[in-house]
Amino acid sequence: MQLVDRYQRKFEYLRLSITDECNFKCNYCLPDGYQRTHQKQFLSENEIKNLINAFAELGTSKVRITGGEPSLRKDFTNIITQISNTEGISKVATTTNGFSLSKHANEWFDAGLDSINVSIDSLDANTFNLITGKNIFHKVMEGVEACSEAGFKQIKINSVLMKGLNDHDLTTFLAWIKDQPIQLRFIELMQTGDNQAFFKQYHLSGQTIKTTLLKQNWISKDRRINDGPAEVFTHPDYLGEIGLIMPYSKDFCNNCNRLRVSALGKLHLCLFGEEGVDLRHLLQNCEDKQELKELVVASLQEKKSSHFLDLGLTGATPHLASIGG
Ligand code: 5AD
Ligand code: SF4
Repeated sequence: MQLVDRYQRKFEYLRLSITDECNFKCNYCLPDGYQRTHQKQFLSENEIKNLINAFAELGTSKVRITGGEPSLRKDFTNIITQISNTEGISKVATTTNGFSLSKHANEWFDAGLDSINVSIDSLDANTFNLITGKNIFHKVMEGVEACSEAGFKQIKINSVLMKGLNDHDLTTFLAWIKDQPIQLRFIELMQTGDNQAFFKQYHLSGQTIKTTLLKQNWISKDRRINDGPAEVFTHPDYLGEIGLIMPYSKDFCNNCNRLRVSALGKLHLCLFGEEGVDLRHLLQNCEDKQELKELVVASLQEKKSSHFLDLGLTGATPHLASIGG
């Protein structure tokens, strides 16, 4: 059994959300902060173990632990250890808002975390505060520093550039990676169920950013088969590189290489537009592994060719914290 869909896309990359809680209030995601609507039981370590074992047997080699903010879980380090010790998993990554990075970078590295993405939407402390609702820009930057000291090879920074909010930061961002081996990933703002008015006002097309980069002699790298949806740019004068994630561009989904499981144990074939397939009843016992694998493989056959975001569909996704971005 292998994870290949009807369009011959191969899925060796799993994004696992372990909580949908977050302590930031990014204005495009959770502008009013995280709202606990009902008592949710997020996947336990045991459920995660059973899930990852099954996916690893289906050919998954890379797992990214996401949230919400994954490090809000007290057992985050244990989860890293467990996933990185799973046979077949060669890469464990996470995406964090950087809140507790300065404190934990070493510990996570030692636990087996291979790579880390930190979300930083501005290099200006005030704008950072304006976007995230957290006045801790300097602490997050210390966290990035702590990552290189801990030994992380390549640190990636995620940044959502928005019209009139932080698009003027582009120049500062570029200057920052001149002498640092950072991959700066500009993610085009995506419309979700909750942020429609915000999206209309602030959406900046990825194509605009691409044009600016090309004008400044950034060079688009050839895509390799496992690159995923980011278009990567390099520049002879810069140590860092740029990844551009343009979900609205034609063909974006052709390179899809990832599946998602939510913190409540639902398999999501796409960020957008579907309810998810509940796997949780098959995560309780390792004896259910075969049935779990069969359910995942069968569900994958339903994966659509594209998210159809360009048609204005945002489907069932209220905000990306609910499914792990
Ligand atoms: N559009 C684009 N990016 C988003 N993220 C969260 N919500 C959105 C959205 N609506 C980003 C975060 C983080 C990553 C996991 O997803 O900034 O870097
Ligand atoms: Fe939290 Fe990430 Fe959403 Fe910001 S984008 S509120 S850090 S989940």
